[in-house]
Amino acid sequence: MSNPFSLVDKTILVTGASSGIGKATAIECSKMGAKMVITGRNELRLQETMQLLEGEGHQMIVADLTKEDDLNSIAEQCPLIEGLVNNAGSTIMVPTQFISREKLQQVLEVNTIAPILLTQIFVKKKKIAKGASIVFTDSISGVKIASPGNVLYSTSKSAIYGFVKNAALDLAGKKIRVNAVCPGMIDTHILDDVSVTSEDIEADVKKYPLKRYGKPEEVAYAIIYFLSDASAFTTGSSLVIDGGFTLQ
Ligand SMILES: NC(=O)c1ccc[n+]([C@@H]2O[C@H](COP(=O)([O-])OP(=O)(O)OC[C@H]3O[C@@H](n4cnc5c(N)ncnc54)[C@H](OP(=O)(O)O)[C@@H]3O)[C@@H](O)[C@H]2O)c1
Repeated sequence: MSNPFSLVDKTILVTGASSGIGKATAIECSKMGAKMVITGRNELRLQETMQLLEGEGHQMIVADLTKEDDLNSIAEQCPLIEGLVNNAGSTIMVPTQFISREKLQQVLEVNTIAPILLTQIFVKKKKIAKGASIVFTDSISGVKIASPGNVLYSTSKSAIYGFVKNAALDLAGKKIRVNAVCPGMIDTHILDDVSVTSEDIEADVKKYPLKRYGKPEEVAYAIIYFLSDASAFTTGSSLVIDGGFTLQ
């Protein structure tokens, strides 16, 4: 029986695959039959993801996306891909009056500049196949909400919202689709370096109509939809996955 969500015969590159949403995406894509190319900075954690992939013929590339040479090296080492998941990201919490050039650059480098340049390099070097799908992990902070201390992260993700729509238009002629998922809070390590108390988290969870944060797999399934032929007529869209948080 044919399955429109199948990823058989697709090679898919996932950035930030050593943790959280990227790790879950790599694992779930492999279960759908894809050959995976996974990348991240931390070799040990990347190896852990590799061991959890189903099937054979997967590849891992250790790279820091803020380094120009590493972006080019990923494209050189990668075979022709049918899917690119620009997922890696990080955050620094700071109120507007304490923004510095250094902090601004740090967040934009990972969340905005790296995924845009990686996309540009893959298209320019013809490493992405006709009919391919590019998916960005954006955020509700980029498209819907503001929250205290989140100005840099929100700014970096808003730029992705604009890029997705414009790149979708630019690349439609090549039959390459570009979409984004916009999660609300998902249970990952992204807040490990941010000072948030368990009481803060408890109070925040209560604001979600579904009364919980999301799981990485729940974002991965939406990414699979965008990567698969099930979404063949969908491009330039940003799908909110937030347990109803932004409905209120
Ligand atoms: N969790 C949430 O609530 C949430 C909500 C909305 C959107 N998002 C977005 O989802 C994406 C994944 O986040 P996550 O929650 O899964 O966080 P995570 O568990 O902290 O994972 C972040 C990933 O990004 C990689 N990364 C960070 N900086 C990098 C760099 N300079 N070069 C290469 N890789 C780098 C990390 O690699 P290393 O392990 O090598 O450091 C890691 O694999 C991010 O874009 C984030 O903004 C998350």
